[in-house]
Amino acid sequence: MIETDGQGEDVAGANRVGAMVSFGLALTLLLVGACSPPLPDAESPAARLYARECGICHVAYPPHMLKPAMWEMQMGRMALLRSQRGLSPLPPPDAKAILDYLKKHAG
Ligand code: HEC
Repeated sequence: MIETDGQGEDVAGANRVGAMVSFGLALTLLLVGACSPPLPDAESPAARLYARECGICHVAYPPHMLKPAMWEMQMGRMALLRSQRGLSPLPPPDAKAILDYLKKHAG
């Protein structure tokens, strides 16, 4: 078939890029998941809460990955992402327990 305007090609190209991005993301998540050591104090209530609440959309990242101030910042960003996805906000005591846990084991 003869393409007259080349548009079909553009769409196919965009799909390819999209597929590559998704694949890259999936691979990253897989690697993060596969290489993550178990969470520190994995059996503690705070660690369980963290794994449950922060592992919904992505793996619960290792606490040593970030500095305490950066965890604080990420908690704010994640609260926003939660609301954007229609999830109810974390109860403040839970958010505090998670943040305390992350800061205690931060990098
Ligand atoms: C509603 C889904 C959702 C929940 C729940 C969620 N996150 Fe996220 N998080 C995301 C998305 C989407 C990204 C990637 C986009 C971005 O960073 O803005 C992300 C990225 C991150 C990053 C950055 C990772 C990097 O490589 O830079 C950190 C850290 C993080 N989240 C921590 C948390 C913590 C801590 C919690 C629990 C309080 C949490 N997330 C809960 C959706 C979520």
